[in-house]
Amino acid sequence: MADTESSPPGVEVGELLARADAGEPILLLDVRNDDEYETWRLEGRRPIETVHIPYFDFIEDAAACVDRLPRNREIVVLCAKGGSSAMVVDTLRESGVASRNLAGGMIAYGEYLQPVKVPSGDPGLATWEMWQVNRRGKGCLSYVIRSGREAIVVDASRDVSWYEEFVRGLRAAIVWVLDTHVHADHVSGGPALAARSGSPYFVSAGEGFELWQHVTPLVNGQELRLGGEGGVTLEVRVMRTPGHTPGSSCYLVGRRHLLSGDTLFVKSVGRPDLGGQVDAWGRALFHTLRDGFATLSDDTVVLPAHYAGLDDVGPDGVVSASLGTLRRTVPELQIREEEKFVAAMRAALKPPPAQYDEIIRVNLGGATVDPEKATEWELGKNQCAAGTRHPAL
Ligand SMILES: [Fe+2]
Repeated sequence: MADTESSPPGVEVGELLARADAGEPILLLDVRNDDEYETWRLEGRRPIETVHIPYFDFIEDAAACVDRLPRNREIVVLCAKGGSSAMVVDTLRESGVASRNLAGGMIAYGEYLQPVKVPSGDPGLATWEMWQVNRRGKGCLSYVIRSGREAIVVDASRDVSWYEEFVRGLRAAIVWVLDTHVHADHVSGGPALAARSGSPYFVSAGEGFELWQHVTPLVNGQELRLGGEGGVTLEVRVMRTPGHTPGSSCYLVGRRHLLSGDTLFVKSVGRPDLGGQVDAWGRALFHTLRDGFATLSDDTVVLPAHYAGLDDVGPDGVVSASLGTLRRTVPELQIREEEKFVAAMRAALKPPPAQYDEIIRVNLGGATVDPEKATEWELGKNQCAAGTRHPAL
């Protein structure tokens, strides 16, 4: 019988990722079934050695499965929710194989948020700070900007208490909650975070789309002032940037940090096909990228809302690129004619994210969803970029 009382505590996702990112030679044993394993895997910033043996193989012939594993290193076992992997840990330990369970499994991985400080690039003016919050399992990025005792949260994930605690840790209070657009791949935490903090909330659905919830309207070029006290303020300028969606907005923080939403990523542009109007939205995206961004200098630091793979993460842990680099390297930004750009968008059409229409309805305020259902909708990586580079998950 398994002696569960002597089992070591589970490994938390944050601990596992930190150790794997630091290059510790962890061996992962993934016990999910074949199709779950093929569609979505746990990734570190360096490759993690992984063995895949489905749980049912352990049920059928545990000894044969144990024989496939090394005995001289620690094994971390993972499954979808952390239940069957805990049973495999017991089996392994009975056989003398050192192992620990990944607490919460892939669900916990999909919801884990890792804050990484964005270098300000100007230490002499360290009056504000910005954190890129990396939802590693999905490739979603949200942001916390603090100036003085005030903070803005942009593109919050559903775990709103995480942001509340994080901002409290910065000794600040949330004064604005913004979304760059009506997300299609995850349920926004924005409305709930705004309600709980008593802050105004802004998102734009764009012309022709109805928002069923209250937002505080912001217009193109409007500036939010953050910090106030002590005479130091940070300006956050709203830029209306239609294309990925008709209501997409970007936010210019200070003079050179652009929260680009799903309009521009570090290796590609946002997909304009999620409304079934790839021609019209593609044209809008072309003009946003060419004309809307024309006044931004090459040294603008682009900070997107998603990324495709861990090779998009820089050595400092931040997903970012200078606009000048993107102007030179992103293939879609080399296209100078509107029709050719639209044709490229049309050629890159791919299936939408699972349940995207239901997720959009919730994010418009037209429906509610319970947390278990939302978790199910959000399994797997985002699919927000145009082009073929993005993993076809
Ligand atoms: Fe999006």
